Amino acid sequence: MTFHINRRKFLKSSLLAVPAISVSSTGEALARYEQEVIGVSKWELETPALCVDLDALDFNLKEIHQRLKKTGIAVRPHAKTHKCPAIAHMQMKAGAIGICTAKLSESEVMLENGLSQVLMTSVNISPSKIKKAMMLSKRFPGFIQAADHSENVKDLQDAAQALGIIADVAVDIDVIRRSGVLPGKPALALAQMVDAAPNLRFKGILAYDGAVQHVHGYDARKARAIRSFEPVVETFEMMKASGLNMEIFSGGGTGTYDMMHEFPGFTDVQAGSYLFMDCQYIDIGGKENDMVFDDFKSSLTVLTTIVNANHAGRLVTDGGAKAMTLNRPTGRVIGESGFTYNASSDEYGSISFEESAKSYRVGDILEVIVPHCDPVINLYDHMYGIRNEKVEMILPILARGKSQ
Ligand SMILES: Cc1ncc(COP(=O)(O)O)c(C=O)c1O
Repeated sequence: MTFHINRRKFLKSSLLAVPAISVSSTGEALARYEQEVIGVSKWELETPALCVDLDALDFNLKEIHQRLKKTGIAVRPHAKTHKCPAIAHMQMKAGAIGICTAKLSESEVMLENGLSQVLMTSVNISPSKIKKAMMLSKRFPGFIQAADHSENVKDLQDAAQALGIIADVAVDIDVIRRSGVLPGKPALALAQMVDAAPNLRFKGILAYDGAVQHVHGYDARKARAIRSFEPVVETFEMMKASGLNMEIFSGGGTGTYDMMHEFPGFTDVQAGSYLFMDCQYIDIGGKENDMVFDDFKSSLTVLTTIVNANHAGRLVTDGGAKAMTLNRPTGRVIGESGFTYNASSDEYGSISFEESAKSYRVGDILEVIVPHCDPVINLYDHMYGIRNEKVEMILPILARGKSQ
């Protein structure tokens, strides 16, 4: 692969104060590439290129804490969104109490890159993963593993005992019939089982109401959140009354981050998408603006080149499903309100339009807000951190492809 060779002065920024990714963990080739590309105009990058606007990212990093300041609710952002240890460090620097992860291999990358407080929100089932999870607990005492079934708790206990450790466990409560133990008595019994296990330490509960996050309209979303969280809150109260350690009551996402303080005992939100604000989130409406969810700024875009403009009302780009995913709604071309972006072909995007703000020709570059941040991130080795239209840093997506 050829890169734009352009050795310009490295731009210092506040964000660069975060712990740097070591050359050994990212490769010397990346370090060399970093030197070459820093300072280059984003419009000179080879496409498709995944870019994050650093001013918007900086804003979002701070804004969630600013908005939650008076509520007493902490932020434990979900790193499944960015899969990038450097960004997780930025989140910690901004005030997060730890991060969440979805997969064991993702957790490993985060822990090995200096993130010490990691709550894995999914369960590990296979014997090999359970063993690996407990080995992570042994190496990294800040690792907390979710559990949602008695067989799983037995397996975790056996693995922890075999390693001679006491491992931290949080019980996942079912909200959307995807994962988790049923709320109420089954959850209480499971929590008590964890608490009684000699090699496990019960830390509290987590519950993610994924189906609520993208409900349109703040009031409708809040009503749904209250309905879906009612059994979880009852469960929390039962556990607390039984004397269990309830230091963690974690959940929620970007769509509900500013509602969770209404639930007694709730400790921290697991918001992930707030960093990037993709097309799935933009239109759901926020508390202050019912049309646009503008508490945070859209920061994640894909740059894509027009490769064919032979047909009226149609542009073909080099950004198809492998650059943008098949998620809905499709990407949004910045500066064009009437463009429909179709990324359903593997290698090509096709744009249809009746009117355009500008005229375009082959070679022109478009900037597209991503449909859904998490899966798009998983398609790239790194994002370009952009400020004032220039590459300021490379952010390696070290947990990219870590789906096990
Ligand atoms: C368990 C869990 N917590 C938190 C999140 C973050 O949600 P969001 O990206 O909507 O902020 C997710 C995302 O899917 C999740 O699965």
